[in-house]
Amino acid sequence: MREMDINKAFTLIEPGPVVLITTNDGVKNNIMTISWTMVVDFTPKFAITTGEWNYSYKALKKFKECVIAIPTADQINQIVSIGTTSGKDINKFEKFGLTPVMGGNVNAPLIKECLANIECKVVDFIKKHDIIILEGIAAYYNSSQKNKQTLHAVGDGTFVLDGRKINRKKAMQSKLP
Ligand SMILES: Cc1cc2nc3c(=O)[nH]c(=O)nc-3n(C[C@H](O)[C@H](O)[C@H](O)COP(=O)(O)O)c2cc1C
Repeated sequence: MREMDINKAFTLIEPGPVVLITTNDGVKNNIMTISWTMVVDFTPKFAITTGEWNYSYKALKKFKECVIAIPTADQINQIVSIGTTSGKDINKFEKFGLTPVMGGNVNAPLIKECLANIECKVVDFIKKHDIIILEGIAAYYNSSQKNKQTLHAVGDGTFVLDGRKINRKKAMQSKLP
């Protein structure tokens, strides 16, 4: 093995699917792209990394609510466009042809065109590392959607597509809820 650049080591640990985070700042709905996510435990808690450099952060801080929307691989261009523009300047739902739908539990909208949506409350800000802890309160899955393939960001502008599923449920029984 040859040593590699430590600053590129994060690209070896592929995170979960790229997600879209919706917020509402009291004036309009917004969306951002997030690839730094983590499931915190079996209770529906999730961590995301983001901070005040993004417009969405103000709404997360003020209203402590958001939706985690799970897009699919065919939405790659929307995912990248959403993550390279700011809600400060544009209405991303209108600009990128997405439909906001209220789930009813938080003021941030679900995204109709996504495979799944999770309404969340912000339960903690870990400022030192720009980590936000979310608690899921309601989840929605569109089983009628044909494309169920999620995208995984490597971190260098390339993406890995979700692939074959392997079942080890029996062997892992003692570790599963
Ligand atoms: C594939 C992809 C992944 C991204 N992941 C993150 C992330 O994990 N955390 C973050 O703060 N920004 C991430 N971004 C950048 C934000 O989505 C971007 O700054 C966006 O413009 C913020 O929108 P806003 O200003 O409307 O909040 C990502 C962008 C892309 C394209």
